[in-house]
Parts: sequence; C-alpha cells; structure tokens
Amino acid sequence: MTPEVSADVVTQELRGRILVVTIDNPPVNALGANVRYELQLAIEAAETNAAVDAVLLLGAGRNFIAGADIREFGKAPLPPSLPDVCNQIEACGKPVVAAIRGAALGGGLEIALAAHYRIALADAKLGLPEVALGLLPGAGGTQRAPHLLGAKAALDLMLSGRHLGAKEAHAIGLIDRIGEGDDVLTEGLAYTRALLTARAPARRTRDANGLADHVASRAAIDVARAETSKKSRGLFAPLRIVDAVRAALESPFDEGLRHERQLFLQCLDSPQRAGLVHAFFAEREVLKAPETRDAKPRAIASVGVVGGGTMGAGIAVAVLDAGLPVTMIERDDAALARGRAHVEKVYEALIAKGRMTPETRAAVLARFSGSTSYDALGAADLVIEAVFEDMAVKQAVFAELDRVCKPGAVLATNTSYLDIDEIAASISRPADVVGLHFFSPANVMKLLEVVVPAQVSADVVATAFELAKKLRKVPVRAGVCDGFIGNRVLAVYRAAADHMMEDGASPYQIDRVLREFGFPMGPFQVSDLAGGDIGWATRKRRAATRDPKARYVQIADRICERGWFGQKTGRGYYLYPDGARSGVPDPEVEAIIDAERERAGIAPRAFTDDEIIRRYMAAMINEGANVVHEGIALRPLDVDVTFLYGYGFPRHRGGPMKYADSIGLAKVLADIREFAKEDPIFWKPSPLIVELVEQGETLASLNQSA
Ligand code: 3HC
Ligand code: NAI
Repeated sequence: MTPEVSADVVTQELRGRILVVTIDNPPVNALGANVRYELQLAIEAAETNAAVDAVLLLGAGRNFIAGADIREFGKAPLPPSLPDVCNQIEACGKPVVAAIRGAALGGGLEIALAAHYRIALADAKLGLPEVALGLLPGAGGTQRAPHLLGAKAALDLMLSGRHLGAKEAHAIGLIDRIGEGDDVLTEGLAYTRALLTARAPARRTRDANGLADHVASRAAIDVARAETSKKSRGLFAPLRIVDAVRAALESPFDEGLRHERQLFLQCLDSPQRAGLVHAFFAEREVLKAPETRDAKPRAIASVGVVGGGTMGAGIAVAVLDAGLPVTMIERDDAALARGRAHVEKVYEALIAKGRMTPETRAAVLARFSGSTSYDALGAADLVIEAVFEDMAVKQAVFAELDRVCKPGAVLATNTSYLDIDEIAASISRPADVVGLHFFSPANVMKLLEVVVPAQVSADVVATAFELAKKLRKVPVRAGVCDGFIGNRVLAVYRAAADHMMEDGASPYQIDRVLREFGFPMGPFQVSDLAGGDIGWATRKRRAATRDPKARYVQIADRICERGWFGQKTGRGYYLYPDGARSGVPDPEVEAIIDAERERAGIAPRAFTDDEIIRRYMAAMINEGANVVHEGIALRPLDVDVTFLYGYGFPRHRGGPMKYADSIGLAKVLADIREFAKEDPIFWKPSPLIVELVEQGETLASLNQSA
C-alpha cells in the first residue's frame, strides 16, 4: 500500500556511479509516511540499477533528518514502518553512506546507523532524544547503537537524550569521519568515492563488536538500571531503554529488534508520551504570539536594569550571560554596591564549581556598569525596572525613565501583580511600556511572562519575544490582571492547599503527595524556599480589599509572626537545622495548625492522597480555564507552558490544561461542583469548563485559535 499523498520528498540523482538520495521535507526533513515510502523506493532503485555502485544519503537544507514525524504519533500508522526502512537500508547490497549536516536526531540517526558508513560536518548534532518525548529509539536505535558503541556509551546517549557534536560523535565511534568542508554533498561524494576505491564492503552495524565483552556490557546495563530507577522518578521510558539494551546483549539481533518494537509501542501508548509531545509543540507554539507575526522587533544592543535586589541582580546576570552590556541603577551608593555584589556572587559560585574561569568572569563583568543617576540610561535600548512592588515607587521610576530614555527605548517592568496599564498611562509614551515578568532566580528560571498592556505597540511586544530568545528564556504572552497567568492561578491552588491544611491534611502530607505527582517540591516547601515574608507582605497589603465572606486561612500568618520565614531563617513550615537545605517536619508548626483549626471551629478530618491531588488540580485547572476565558492567556497551551517552566509542573503530564483533558474535563467539573457544596464562594466552575463539557469538547480544541 502506498501513502495517499506522494510529494517528491526524496529525490534521486546519479553522480557518476553514486546514487545521491536527498530527503527534502521541510522544515527539518522529518520521516513522515511519504519520506519513508520514497526512501524505500530509492533503496530498491539502487539495488536494481546496475549503474549504481553506492548510495549517498543526504538531507536538503540545514539538517540531515530531525527524526520521526512527531505529528504522526497517536495516529493510525501508515506503511512502510521506519524499522522496515532501516532494515532495508542496512540490507542493501551496495555500500550506503550517510552524510550529515545539522540535526541527525532520533529516527534520523537511526537511518544513519542503518547506513554502512557515516560522515558528518563540524556543525552536526547527533543524538537519540526520544526519551524527552516519552519514547525510546524505535527504529533499531536501541540495538544498533549498543552494537556500534558498546552498552555504556549507547545507554548514555539514549538515557540523556543529549546531542553530540561531530568531534564527540567521532571519538565514540558513532561516525567514521568528520568532513572538513562545509558542503555536505561534496564531502559525502568524496568519502563515498574513497570507499569505492578502497572496495569497502556494505558493512552492517548489527555485525559491529560493541557488545563483544559480555561481562562489561552486563555491568554497564546493571549500573544504568540502578541509576535510572533512582533518578527517573516515575518516568516510563527510561527503564524500557535499559530493557531494550539488555535485549540487544542477550538476544539474536532480529529478536532484539522485535523486543524493541514491543517496548516502543508501550511507550507510544503511554499518557507520558502524549504529555511530553504536547510540551514539545506547546513550547514552540507560544513563540507565535500575534505581535511576533505582525511586527518587527526593535534592535537591542544595551540594557538598563533599575533595582539591584533579588530580581534586578538576577535579571542583570541573565542579560550579561546573553552577551549584552548592562547598566544598573540603584537608589544610593550602598544599594548599588549591594546590587553589584549580588551579581558578582553568581559568578563566584560558578568559579567555585569550576564552571567558569576568573578570566571569563572579568570579561563578563567588563560589560556591567552601575550608577545612581538615571542619566546613565540615556543610550539604553531597553530598560527593565525591578524596584519595590509599590505603585508609587514604580511610577516615580517610570517618570525618570520617561525623562532620560531615548525615543524608541522599550520600558519594561518586572512587577509581579501591579496594574501595568496604570504604570503605562502615567508617562508620555505608554506605547513603549511592557511587562517582563521574570521568575526567581531570574538567571536560572526559564519562564518569562511577556505582559501586554492595552496601549503597547506591537513591535515592543515583538522585541520582548526577541529578548527572550537572546536570554534563552521561554516567553509566554499574558494579559494584564492581578498576577497575570502564573501568579494568578498560583494564588488559587495555593489557597486550596491552605484550606486542606486547615481542614485536616498536614502540610507534609500535601507536599509529599505533590512530589509523588511529579512536582520537584510541594507548595509548603516552595514557601519556605521563596521566603514566607513575601506572601505575608502581599496578604497584609490586600487585607483591606479581601472579600470578608471568602475563607481566609491564618496559619501562614501565625508562622510568619514568629519570624519563621523558611530556609533563610532556619525554620518555616519545616525546620532547617544547621542551615540544611531540605527541611524536617516541625511539631511546633503542627501545634500551631491544631490551634488554628480549633480557633476556626474546624474538626480535622483525614484526606486521602487522591483527594489532595483532585482538589489541588481542580483549583489549578479551574483558574487556568478562567485565565483563558478572559483572554489573559491566548490559549490553554500558554497556561501549560507557564506552569512547566515557571512552577515545576511535571513535564510528562504536559501542563495543567493537558492534564485536565487527560483525566476528562467532565470529571474535573464534577469535582468542582462537589467541592462547591462546602464552599461555593471558592469553588465556582469556570464558564469555559462548563461550556466545553456541554459541547463534549476538550481544552486542547482551543489551542489552534490564537
Ligand atoms: N517531527 C515533526 N515536526 C518537527 C520535528 C519532528 N521530528 N522536529 C521539529 N519539528 C518542527 C517543529 O515543530 C517546528 O515546527 P513549526 O515551525 O511549525 O513550529 C519546526 O519543525 C522547526 O523546529 P524548531 O523550531 O525546533 O527548529 P530548530 O532549528 O530550533 O531546531 C531541531 C531543530 C534541533 C531539529 C529541533 O526541532 C528538534 O530537536 N526536533 C526534535 C528532534 C527529536 O526529538 N527527534 C526524535 C523524534 S522521535 C523519533 O525519531 C522516534 C524514532 O525513534 C522511531
Ligand atoms: P528587592 O527588595 O530584593 O529589591 C528591590 C531593589 O530595588 C532594592 O535593591 C532597592 O534598593 C531598589 N530600589 C527601590 N527603589 C528604587 C528606586 N527608586 N530606584 C532604584 N532602585 C530602587 O525586591 P525583588 O524581590 O528583587 O523584587 C523586585 C520586583 O520584582 C518587585 O516588583 C517584585 O514584585 C518583582 N518580582 C519579584 C520576584 C521574587 O521572587 N522576588 C519574582 C518576580 C517578580
């Protein structure tokens, strides 16, 4: 059977006695059904054509092949299968050479492994990153890689999913030669001709002797299994990869291939694969905000940062790391010295860990300058304000920026909650004002919420996305509201956790359950890490405007009143004896919780682990849906990416909106309605969820509509 569409995605051209077979399937030559089909035809043609002595496989454009077509996963498979194509290439009676530039990843590298010889240009990126998609290499990679490289190197490649450069690939024997020039056809032809001259045979990877030392291979597999069980925290694919390599060692080759296929299909069916593939596409989709399509970014060659506290210093480091010069403004010399010291401390830590040399630090810090005068920002292309979270202070700073900055400079605020429309409206150039909400530590955390106020011009938003790219951050477009996407949703599920704590669950149970769900930390550990004083200050600020009918749990206030702000004070929800980084449960905190339950007249009840997840997730999903409904997030996937990159949401679950679809929106709605019987003010079903459930639709159905 042939695929319905055939689109000339593989071309054949005879160069002398070499058949050049080029995969030309933009953007990245993924191995869709057409490509597989036409590749098969090309190999058949080479076998039968007496004028052909050898085959040269190439990718058109910048890459060899980026792998299987990820968009096909979960759909009915079309023949030929990729494993069959690989077997056919390997079985070809004439030498097949793969010439690689750019990406040879996943199924792309498996094609190259099935070929008989491999040459790569210096820019090549080779890897088996399937594990990042919840898969294992399913076209012979788990078998051919160990036979070629040995069990240890093959396991490292597949379990880490990392990309190797040409040099490393050559050193471990993954490729035979590094091409000196930059034209892949020329290099490939020269190598193939040399092989023909030397009468090199069709050499099959399955016959390589990487697994010859049975004892060492067995030991490498045992070590990998032990480490993977410890590290992979509930992930499905990694241990299947180890199983597949064991099959490579212990079974005849074709049986190993069959075993790999079974394991691959198990991975393909797993919800983790669906979650991870969703994350892969979602993090690419967020880049396509309307403004990035419609407007050209302004040039950014220098950046100003106002405020040298936790965030200002972290932002300065992020910008310096991207190779840009930074000017920091502080209130006085002492504060500026502290700001500079915060920046220097980050680099000192890198030197201490051996990740940076003193010379590199000196070169980076040469791009850093500080001043107590706003006039130093006259030439900056973009300024990021990170001063105290106070409207009057921020407006005073923006008045100064309005006075000194050159026309066209982008003026950004890192505010967590304040109304950016109000900040923008207070100066003469509101079209230049945008929110750039970084997460702490700003030089580490990947998320950047790009907050889009009403009057901002499209090219300023496009500039923010461009800056994110330079800083290697993941930008998510958000509208103006209290807390934007992330912190707004956080406030709600955090309250749900507080309610459960007051109703009878211990903070330690809640944290444990959420760690088991896949978060790196539970919400109370996060409070202790961030510092309880920050949330306390916010609560005090909002006390006057809080709905007096809404439930308010005071446990956190009682803890903060004692000066227990978490790790930095040695205790918070947990005790941190002798500056320990991981805490131990504190009986005094449990006593405070008991007292608060009594004060509030609550008879504590037990919560099952499952109920904790259901309530926590229902709160997160419901507010996430509200954020989409109000247009604060463009699509559900923007909420997902926010939580994956800013809040430690387990990637294999795809994000809260994807998770909602995976358990069923109707079930989430039923939960919310059940919880609403106890507290109808807190648990109000999002109109979007109600509407989608009525229509029998998923949140994912809204992901196309930006
Ligand atoms: N299948 C389908 N689409 C793919 C794809 C793939 N394997 N790889 C990339 N794309 C798409 C992207 O979604 C994007 O589409 P868009 O323009 O519509 O958003 C476009 O190609 C360009 O991708 P990037 O924006 O990521 O381009 P970059 O130049 O930054 O990166 C890359 C290129 C390094 C190849 C990167 O895209 C990548 O890492 N791709 C995935 C590689 C991978 O995981 N391969 C394994 C697949 S699983 C497999 O092969 C199973 C097999 O063992 C059976
Ligand atoms: P911080 O208190 O550590 O630092 C604020 C700095 O601003 C201080 O060094 C102060 O001297 C300086 N400053 C105050 N007024 C100034 C002025 N007029 N001119 C120049 N400098 C001035 O505060 P932090 O935590 O860095 O927060 C800064 C902003 O970032 C706030 O708006 C906060 O809401 C936001 N934010 C904070 C996050 C966090 O986790 N701490 C995360 C994301 C955003």
